[in-house]
Amino acid sequence: PLPPPFEVPLPLPPVLKPVSTAGGVDRYEITQRETSAEILPGVRTPLWTYEGTFPGPTIESRRGRPVTVTHRNELPVPTVVHLHGGRTPASSDGYPTDLVLPEKWHEPVSMHGMHGMGGNMRDPRAVVTRRIRDYTFPLDQRPTLLWYHDHRMDFTAPAIWRGLAGLHLVRDAAEEALGLPSGRRELPLMIADRAFTADGSLRYPALDRDLRTRPGVEEPYAAGVLGDVILVNGAPWPVHEVDAARYRLRVLNASNARHYDLEAVLDDGRRLDLVQVGADQGLLASPVVHRNLPIAPAERYDVVLDFARVPVGGRVRIVNRLGSGRTRDVMAFRVARRAADDSRVPRVLSRDLPSWRRSDAVRTREFSFRAGRMDGGHGWLIDGRPFDPSRTDVTTRLGDTEVWRLVADVHHPVHLHMVGFRVLSRGGRPPLPHDAGLKDTISLRPGEAAEIITRFDGYRGRFLFHCHNAEHEDMGMMANLEVT
Ligand code: C2O
Ligand code: CU
Repeated sequence: PLPPPFEVPLPLPPVLKPVSTAGGVDRYEITQRETSAEILPGVRTPLWTYEGTFPGPTIESRRGRPVTVTHRNELPVPTVVHLHGGRTPASSDGYPTDLVLPEKWHEPVSMHGMHGMGGNMRDPRAVVTRRIRDYTFPLDQRPTLLWYHDHRMDFTAPAIWRGLAGLHLVRDAAEEALGLPSGRRELPLMIADRAFTADGSLRYPALDRDLRTRPGVEEPYAAGVLGDVILVNGAPWPVHEVDAARYRLRVLNASNARHYDLEAVLDDGRRLDLVQVGADQGLLASPVVHRNLPIAPAERYDVVLDFARVPVGGRVRIVNRLGSGRTRDVMAFRVARRAADDSRVPRVLSRDLPSWRRSDAVRTREFSFRAGRMDGGHGWLIDGRPFDPSRTDVTTRLGDTEVWRLVADVHHPVHLHMVGFRVLSRGGRPPLPHDAGLKDTISLRPGEAAEIITRFDGYRGRFLFHCHNAEHEDMGMMANLEVT
């Protein structure tokens, strides 16, 4: 029962209210629980949610003002929460074996073989918490759109697919003073594809439907799981009524494996400019104008669209140039009325972008991201090895600047925890226009070598870097970075 495109209204995820703001800390509580929602008309879809909604509730924070989120796990499996793009101490960064056990979990953790919960037993540093866990986020970082999602060892992809993802915005006064579109003219857009069965259930080719013991997907899906329904904020191909004015779109690709190349197309075939003002890790130095914008899993783009010249009653479709048939459509905006617009897109957006130079780097490392074998089946490997929580792959010193050369066989969106980085080169050439700004995820293209540069400041401890194709991540494409 797929709905026609551009008829379902765009939902906006609820903004979570803190339970307390005392002592300079915003405290939130989130219960992870099963529920169902009417995503497709006429059928209910069982979901795993944060606080009963998909996407989960949005958290809005101020730069430098710490946040504590107490997560209660009422799901049937252990979970892990990671704040993607957060500059977070290791103890709250959601390491894949730092489990929050469910309320009703009576099985000893060691029962579960080599994988998942079993990862704990091999790793003396792992922490297992019962039912409730406090995550503390200092949020001492550039304002941007972060997102939180599950990160459990071996089972991240199916858990996100079932609904464990939400947005977290960080703001500050300097950004607010720019005059970018705001209020109801600022829209978070979480794009995610899903597949459904006829009864409305989510379809995912997990080897263990209960996501308890045996990780992995059926062999034909090893490259990543795609859906044929495109959801934005949890609604299929939605439409949103807008004023003939500028809008700021905070776009996240929360898909497990699907890449998009977005463009904004008017009814007469003309395209609207996508004016990029920010990247994964906040504002650019100055705006970059795109005709189309490729976005890989976990990437975020902060873009301004100006609907002023669209006739009232006209429609702007957001289209995915990489899709075909129904996966070409993403969502639409319908221009409802003329309206005053005092927003602006200043020529200078930020002056605090790190500008590390090659000569600042104390070392250069190289990593390959390639298909391989793991546990007798298909795997995805970094430097020929699948993830092992008990192995330290990279050790660096707090404050060191490094160049990383990343080499891919097929598409791999590579994500580093804790730090933002700049793209130095792609295929020996200068970065692409959409590589501008501070990133935390780089879309490596097939056969490509790219160089990034970063400074490992922030916190000491054990952090991850991995492919954010969520199936690749679960199938080994992850590694440990120890900051000492
Ligand atoms: Cu989106 Cu390791 O994270
Ligand atoms: Cu990958």
